[in-house]
Amino acid sequence: MSDHYDVAVIGSGPGGYSAAIRSGQLGKSVICIEKCGEDQTPILGGTCLNVGCIPSKALLDSSYEYHKAINQSSDHGIKINDISLDLSQMLTRKEKVVDDLTKGVSGLFKLNKVKSLKGFAKIKKDLSIEVTDEEGSLNLITADNIVLATGSKPAELDFSPTDQKSIITSKEALSLKQIPSQIIIIGSGAIGLEIGSIWSRLGSKVILLEELEQLLPQADRQVSTSAMKIFKNQGLDIRLGAKIESAEKKEEKVLIRFREESLEADKLIVAAGRVSYFEDLLDEGIDLELDSNGSINVNQFCETNLKGLYAIGDVVRGPKLAHKASEEGIMVAENIAGLNSSLDYELIPFVIYTHPEIAWVGKSEDQAKKMGIDYESASFPFSLNGRSLANKEEQGFVKMIVDKKKDAILGVHIIGSNASELIQQAIIAIKTELSAEKLGSLIFSHPTQSEAIKETASLINSKAIHISNRKRKK
Ligand code: NAI
Repeated sequence: MSDHYDVAVIGSGPGGYSAAIRSGQLGKSVICIEKCGEDQTPILGGTCLNVGCIPSKALLDSSYEYHKAINQSSDHGIKINDISLDLSQMLTRKEKVVDDLTKGVSGLFKLNKVKSLKGFAKIKKDLSIEVTDEEGSLNLITADNIVLATGSKPAELDFSPTDQKSIITSKEALSLKQIPSQIIIIGSGAIGLEIGSIWSRLGSKVILLEELEQLLPQADRQVSTSAMKIFKNQGLDIRLGAKIESAEKKEEKVLIRFREESLEADKLIVAAGRVSYFEDLLDEGIDLELDSNGSINVNQFCETNLKGLYAIGDVVRGPKLAHKASEEGIMVAENIAGLNSSLDYELIPFVIYTHPEIAWVGKSEDQAKKMGIDYESASFPFSLNGRSLANKEEQGFVKMIVDKKKDAILGVHIIGSNASELIQQAIIAIKTELSAEKLGSLIFSHPTQSEAIKETASLINSKAIHISNRKRKK
């Protein structure tokens, strides 16, 4: 079989499926090629839907419900006797969520006339695509435009190669059939903190080993300091400056050595970052440029050095985030269709779905300082926000960095429940150049946690009502 398309997308994660659907909407003939999983089932939706963002959020939610039932129900005057955990049901619910969403991608493909092809794609020297399906038969595809959206894979550490049993990645950590007594996680980034939170809430003793001296160095320092305190109080044992020297398997356990200490765990989870994945994708002799991190080199429009070949999402530079990938997919599809689309890479939100959540967009205080910007910062704690108190969610704060002269919002940093939802307001405010004063003067509904954003903006101009305006930093 040989088929020709306007657009061929390789990979069906948030980047790939968005590129394919948008191309379909714009009237292009489009095919999306996705390889099968180890058990030969299709994996539409990529890492995010199958083994990343979505299943982790399902388990974060279930584990938090369990944690609340045990620790908070009595505060609400609710007596629950005999709480017990059905891990198998928790995993079944997670799998159903994943299943529904992956089926949803398939439905959206049909709706937008995207042809879906199962198989492993290899790009030949003439930029045709050879696709090998589960039975080993070959399909030859040609396309005017090819979008590479093959994603990323967990970074492997030489001293602790994963074995899918006791030394594992986040993928296996989201499907453990028993609650391990002791878990060690290498890395305290988004994955380490989210996976650590899940299993800690379900009863595991979790130790996170982080080689850096600061937790979440990309976050605003005030947020990362506060997060460190909160997570420690929750029982997450986070050890900074912990450079591991070795990890060895000892019967069913893993033995870790760092500094003069040795630690034993049932599971070692490697969460030390992810690297772009495009193994066996390109035939020999294809002169595709890579960048210094080993990702596919692209310009701001996700164009590679080869005409008609684009690359988006985790396989290229920039943060490995699903929402960045999908917007790149949409941009590429629109530009292929002759529209003039671009992205504002300065305004990518970051979220960590712990409890409380952490979210930020724009510049941190350290960045503003480094750039020599004459800025002001203010923060408003959720402990002074009525809705947060009513919800027993008083931990954390909203912090705003504002250009002093222009009153322009440069960055918003939140640690608190629903930070992932609240941060969208900051994106809109920054993008539409809303001044802190204007944001603070809008009528927000009461009682809501969003009022903490309004109050932070008001604090910048000494107009806050529920906090002393003297608390504002100069
Ligand atoms: P990460 O890069 O965010 O964090 C990895 C951490 O591991 C770093 O702090 C690093 O210093 C540490 N590390 C590396 N090698 C180490 C070693 N040998 N010993 C001790 N510590 C070591 O990567 P992570 O958490 O694995 O996530 C991968 C990607 O997926 C990231 O780009 C992240 O943004 C994304 N992601 C985003 C999520 C979200 O937005 N909520 C959730 C999960 C992943």
